[in-house]
Amino acid sequence: MDRMNLKIGVIKGDGIGPEIVTEAMKVLDKAAEKYGHTVEYTKLLMGGASIDVHGIPLTDETVAAAKACDAVLMGSIGGDAKTSPWYKLEPSKRPEAGLLRIRKELNLFANLRPAVLYDELKGACPLKEEITEGGFDMMIMRELTGGLYFGERKTVEENGVMTAYDSLTYNENEIRRIAKRGFDIAAKRRKKVTSVDKANVLDSSRLWRKVVEEVAGEYPGVTLEHMLVDNCAMQLVKDPKQFDVILTENMFGDILSDEASMVTGSIGMLASASLNETKFGLYEPSGGSAPDIAGKGIANPIATILSAAMMLRFSFDLDREADAIETAVAKVLKEGYRTIDIMSEGKRQVGTEEMGGLIAKNI
Ligand code: IPM
Ligand code: MG
Repeated sequence: MDRMNLKIGVIKGDGIGPEIVTEAMKVLDKAAEKYGHTVEYTKLLMGGASIDVHGIPLTDETVAAAKACDAVLMGSIGGDAKTSPWYKLEPSKRPEAGLLRIRKELNLFANLRPAVLYDELKGACPLKEEITEGGFDMMIMRELTGGLYFGERKTVEENGVMTAYDSLTYNENEIRRIAKRGFDIAAKRRKKVTSVDKANVLDSSRLWRKVVEEVAGEYPGVTLEHMLVDNCAMQLVKDPKQFDVILTENMFGDILSDEASMVTGSIGMLASASLNETKFGLYEPSGGSAPDIAGKGIANPIATILSAAMMLRFSFDLDREADAIETAVAKVLKEGYRTIDIMSEGKRQVGTEEMGGLIAKNI
């Protein structure tokens, strides 16, 4: 493999973001050094950190700077909605608006959220042992630039009654491109797609189902099943092993991925990649900014470190380097090191920095 120069944009973000991203950079640097690559970081401000400096959660300059990178690594954005001054701003100027805008601007329509139960972390899983026996390994494919998140919304007074509208819109092209990604990924895994919708109620889901079925016709080696979202929520805790790729729209994917993360033991373990039609991607942990534990040095950096591994794999085709990071994570867990969120009896509790350092050392 040729030596590469990796141009990586870094959005440390808010809350625990700076702490966990610092550890992921440490691990990336180590992997790059070991395999002879160089890394060039471009610091990008987004979310609350950008509001504090620019008054808005994402500037045009930052969007342009992100586009000029090969990939972006991100921590988390947002603060405590009750106490943070960011939430006194109108909704379109709050931290989350920056995240939604960058997803849209960079056309990051495919959000991959792998939920894997590590053997070593079975103790942190809230499900009964008979359910988790043999582990599970699923990939949630969440559509990320359509649906309720980006449909028209407004709050108006109608006949003296305050009324709010959010619209859930999908066109067939938006559904087709995410469905294709889902099938492509399933073809390289256990060859099963569970498409999740609410086709018993929603028109958008009926179109979703129709287009997904058309796409399935192009992938004879992959099995397709449909599942209603309420049933899926139940199946995730009843029998998570049944899932390989879960393909779903934006809002359902948001909700189901939090649920899936919890059955793996902790949201602090869940990586994610948001991809467009090119090699570019935005990589971030699935969890939030956790303002309640920010600055305490106890946050779990593993989701961010695993997101960095996904970046090496998807944006740079550096599979060997990505494997090295994933193997190092598994080794450190096997050796018994745990951050507080995944701590169980007889294990050794470590902080954010120590966890990052241990993983880097094992590369
Ligand atoms: C996520 C988050 C975001 C989302 C929030 C912060 C807007 O929950 O990435 O899952 O809803 O997409
Ligand atoms: Mg979410």
